[in-house]
Amino acid sequence: MADLEEVLPALAAEMAERSDRGEVATYIPQLGKIDPKRFGIAVALTDGRVVTAGDADEAFSIQSISKIFTLTLALGKVGDALWRRVGREPSGNPFNSIVQLERELGIPRNPFINAGAIVVTDVLLADHQPREAIGEILRFIQFLTDDDTIIIDRDVAASERATGFRNFALANYMRSFGNLTHEPEMALGVYFHHCAIAMSARQLALAGRFLSHGGLNPATGHSVVSAERARRILALMLTCGHYDGSGDFAFRVGIPGKSGVGGGILGIVPGVASMAVWSPGLNENGNSKLGSIALEKLAKIMNWSIF
Ligand code: DON
Repeated sequence: MADLEEVLPALAAEMAERSDRGEVATYIPQLGKIDPKRFGIAVALTDGRVVTAGDADEAFSIQSISKIFTLTLALGKVGDALWRRVGREPSGNPFNSIVQLERELGIPRNPFINAGAIVVTDVLLADHQPREAIGEILRFIQFLTDDDTIIIDRDVAASERATGFRNFALANYMRSFGNLTHEPEMALGVYFHHCAIAMSARQLALAGRFLSHGGLNPATGHSVVSAERARRILALMLTCGHYDGSGDFAFRVGIPGKSGVGGGILGIVPGVASMAVWSPGLNENGNSKLGSIALEKLAKIMNWSIF
């Protein structure tokens, strides 16, 4: 196996040279301020080693990557009953699309598109106050990383709230079908805050370890979810984690992954590693451009494709 301690710095240096970095998301104004030259990568191996390169300790907005953690919590709360309200199929549409909701009676295609993640957040709200639900999500991520310094970037949450017209439309539309039990304002209050969690690539790679190790945290041996549930979350990441770019990511990289418009991607090599990459410029599907390219190269060098 190639030596990661050599591979990662070389990859970060190669990415630093590239000028085709994609476009930083501007529909959330606060994200538009991020320097597109940033690049960080971190790999947490199931044997306990963590290897990083570039800006791996700089926090960025995890955005939709948070949907892995909210899905995990919601499955813990209601189990398979979740699938009565959210589907498990790729949407083939952009992450913020509304078109399928009318034909499919307010049931979003999967838990990673915005509509599906808003339903998952509605499940987590249950009979809690939004503040408590936000706290539960943040504490879960702090527990997974064993790091209580992880915070929510309130400026990003406020910035998204101020321009979140599409998400309000999705939430209201699903409410009209009876698939949102709380006021859109409440569900979205929680949603905007979990999307605004700020983490470094290192912290994100650590948070994903349970998915790379059959549901167990390899550092503590503690069970986070069952092996079966970990497998199912990975299946959803592979088929739906990059929206209408999921097929392309599976084709090029060949591992389950979840992207966010902050430019992060969490990728899982089952049994081997949890890895996170961050490059803020996005491709045409709203996924990190250089992040996907870096993971494609890394998976090739390390022979990490699951296929
Ligand atoms: O709701 C939104 O639009 C954002 N908070 C999250 C979208 C996202 O990260 C899509 N990922 N590539």
